Amino acid sequence: MINLILLGLPGAGKGTASERIVDKYHLTHISTGDMFREAMANKTPVGLEAKGFMDKGNLVPDEVTAKLVEERLSQPDIVAGFILDGFPRTTAQAELLTDILDRLNKPLSSVIALEATEKVLINRLSARFMCKQCGATYNKFTKKPRVEGTCDRCGAHTFYQREDDKPEVVKNRLEVNEKMNAPLKDFYQKQGLLTVINGEQGPDVVFAAVDAVLSKIN
Ligand code: AP5
Ligand code: MG
Ligand code: ZN
Repeated sequence: MINLILLGLPGAGKGTASERIVDKYHLTHISTGDMFREAMANKTPVGLEAKGFMDKGNLVPDEVTAKLVEERLSQPDIVAGFILDGFPRTTAQAELLTDILDRLNKPLSSVIALEATEKVLINRLSARFMCKQCGATYNKFTKKPRVEGTCDRCGAHTFYQREDDKPEVVKNRLEVNEKMNAPLKDFYQKQGLLTVINGEQGPDVVFAAVDAVLSKIN
């Protein structure tokens, strides 16, 4: 059982690394960003509340986010363990998560932080595009679909740019998340759980470094 947190600023490659981790370790991928986007698309009360924050690149309130995570972690499909991608993002959320995991009796195995400079993050986010049907993530420079205009995963032909990847929102998103980043890493460093990985390396190299950490967990 591997219970993992992936930390990293917007564009650090949390989603990209998660896909590979899921392929090898069959962990349940829990991305709060993906969950909010789905809730927005379905116009649920949580989605409508989150939209105002997300579209501007601000954080959704801690309690709302923590409740969503607790509900998800309580479901029975988490057999081999989980990856939390994009949660926690504040030390307040980290403290809430400690309580949630205590209640559910799911101790953390490891916390991995993917690191990249702001210049790299901005370049990646501005070049990212998504499949409208299945949400698969691409990049104009580093990850084009194998057949131009066709999603590798589902075969659809329509793509879009995330609302919060527009340049004016990216700047605020990075600022908001940067403020929280160091204290969050300290929180897990103190617990002896943190490994920092250079996220500027190519996806294969990043995954090899992640794999080296995960393969030691029994
Ligand atoms: P969320 O969806 O989690 O966005 P984020 O944290 O900003 O992270 P991203 O998904 O943008 O980046 P990523 O690290 O997954 O990078 P990716 O792999 O796609 O959250 C969105 C919003 O929801 C937040 O702003 C907030 O409003 C709200 N929210 C979510 N969680 C919350 C929380 N806990 N509390 C409060 N609010 C919350 O890669 C990016 C691009 O780079 C892609 O094009 C990819 O192909 C490319 N790429 C990735 N890795 C590499 C590599 N190694 N080499 C080259 N290219 C790469
Ligand atoms: Mg992501
Ligand atoms: Zn698709």
